[in-house]
Amino acid sequence: MALYSEKVMDHFRNPRNVGVIEDANAIGEVGNAKCGDIMKMYMKIEDEIIKDVKFETFGCGSAIASSSMATELIKGKPVSEAMELTNKAVAEALDGLPDYKMHCSVLAEEAIKSALDDYRSRQ
Ligand code: FES
Repeated sequence: MALYSEKVMDHFRNPRNVGVIEDANAIGEVGNAKCGDIMKMYMKIEDEIIKDVKFETFGCGSAIASSSMATELIKGKPVSEAMELTNKAVAEALDGLPDYKMHCSVLAEEAIKSALDDYRSRQ
């Protein structure tokens, strides 16, 4: 079996929602102390709905694929729903990640939570 699913490879090669939102009202940044990878998430939230979300990930392929998939999963969704998104759900949506790469998907979950915490703290 291939190490990475086709979905992982697709999101790694053609990541969705890469970039910066200049007028974001929610910004989160997290890092993995072990590998040194960093993920930054920007959101534009209106009426508790995530109207737009973009990310910048300085990290491994699995982290890039995870952030890409995570942004797809929360775009257009209510804040309360995005708050519930787990790294497991992100990995499942990617048709799985190798066990030793699961921590990369944790970065995506944490980046979303960090951005949503920032949103709450601005209110
Ligand atoms: Fe660092 Fe994947 S190895 S996030």
